[in-house]
Amino acid sequence: MADRHDLVIIGGGPGGYAAALYAAAAGLDVAMVESRQVGGTCLHRGCIPAKALLETATVRRTLASAADFGFTVEEPTLDFGVSQDRSTGVIDKLHKGLSGLLGSRKVRIVAGTGVLAGPGKVAVSGGDDGDVELEGDAVILAAGSVPRTIPGFDVDGSLVLTSDEITRGKDLPASAVVIGGGAIGCEFASALADLGVEVTILEALPKILPGLDADVAKIVERSFKKRGITIHTGVQVTGHTPGGAGTTVEFGDGQSVEVEKVVVSVGRRPLSDSLGLDGSGVELDERGFVKVDERCRTTLDGVWAVGDVIPTAQLAHVAFAEAIVAVRDLLGEDPLPVEYTKVPWCIYCHPEVAFAGLSEDAAKEAGYDVVTVKHRFGGNGRALIIGEAEGLVKIIAEKQEDGTGGRILGVHMVGPWVTEQLGQGYLAVNWEATVDDVAQYLQPHPSLSENFGEAVMTLTGRGLHG
Ligand code: NAI
Repeated sequence: MADRHDLVIIGGGPGGYAAALYAAAAGLDVAMVESRQVGGTCLHRGCIPAKALLETATVRRTLASAADFGFTVEEPTLDFGVSQDRSTGVIDKLHKGLSGLLGSRKVRIVAGTGVLAGPGKVAVSGGDDGDVELEGDAVILAAGSVPRTIPGFDVDGSLVLTSDEITRGKDLPASAVVIGGGAIGCEFASALADLGVEVTILEALPKILPGLDADVAKIVERSFKKRGITIHTGVQVTGHTPGGAGTTVEFGDGQSVEVEKVVVSVGRRPLSDSLGLDGSGVELDERGFVKVDERCRTTLDGVWAVGDVIPTAQLAHVAFAEAIVAVRDLLGEDPLPVEYTKVPWCIYCHPEVAFAGLSEDAAKEAGYDVVTVKHRFGGNGRALIIGEAEGLVKIIAEKQEDGTGGRILGVHMVGPWVTEQLGQGYLAVNWEATVDDVAQYLQPHPSLSENFGEAVMTLTGRGLHG
């Protein structure tokens, strides 16, 4: 006999647990199948440990600038194990909190691997709960993703690593090659370089962080180079030859670099192959992502899919939003779909990057007549006080007849704590606010967010400092 629930979810990462919490809050009886630990990649192997590592790098940079504030400090040494234990402590606390929350909402967690065993049916096996059959009026697939690998680079966890392994490491190498200069590659490259690792990035495309506004990407690249990171773009990695204390990575036109570790960060692939979807009626696209409509409905009635297993931005907060859309849809509440072109993006490398909406190039390609402004943190009091004046805020707005800015199309930031400053820009873009709407609001002084306010005012044609 199968156990019946209103909703059965496969996968307990941000997509799955958000769906469980939201559905339970709406009064549904929910079961969630998880083969490892609730929290998923984000909590255990991704966002949280990666940002903890980046924070260790921030402390190192702060110590390095202590002399500017008049402190005499000895050359700091790092016990990386202590730093990693701290990270584990943060993860454990969040894991406990999440488990408690799910428990208090009476979400049943079933340990094991779940497969779709027919419409509304999920079979679970291989976990502490043994073989379990679940039936749900609705099923949500939220199995997530795993790091992609490349031929010739077998991930062994000691020489060749992905984000899964590097966030668990207990010591740092002297040197590393990072293959792939996307969000993950740049976050690890930044942290490792600040912690004294000699880092080389190998990126296949003509620039690192493809997809960023060009002015923002340029500032990150300049900072990386200044901090000793070697960047090779437009190169193919051809293989590697282990030897000595590490390996020699071959790339481009006969070039090579000798390193202790290789970090592969070339994207993530959906974990759809273990969901038993063959012949189920749930279709996959050519890259293995589960096909969905704008309400996250799959091609099989009664089955939704959210998070990294569908072909949308692989971000935890996007998974949260999709989970809510799916649950509201199955409740018959007619939810608004996620507007994928306007979701917030935050990359936590140094300097940080945060943006929402169109880049200048994308806005022009979309046919908008635009006006843009760039305000640098170099003129911002708070940025100078904290000693982090590198970076800018760039705003892209529709151009009005008099040349001033109209609707705000994109807000792009690079610099100190911009991941915490994007909120206003995100709201402006998604509210389809105009420059005049936003310019009348005050920014506290002195604050980093004044840079956003100043940039908006400048677009009205009457800036104070720009
Ligand atoms: P990505 O797709 O963002 O970047 C991968 C990069 O590797 C691309 O620039 C690509 O051109 C390059 N590449 C692919 N194959 C290559 C090869 N053989 N040789 C050299 N370069 C190659 O993927 P990434 O960074 O692994 O991240 C995975 C997903 O997770 C992305 O969707 C990313 O946005 C998301 N994510 C976002 C974060 C954030 O916003 N803070 C943090 C972590 C992940």
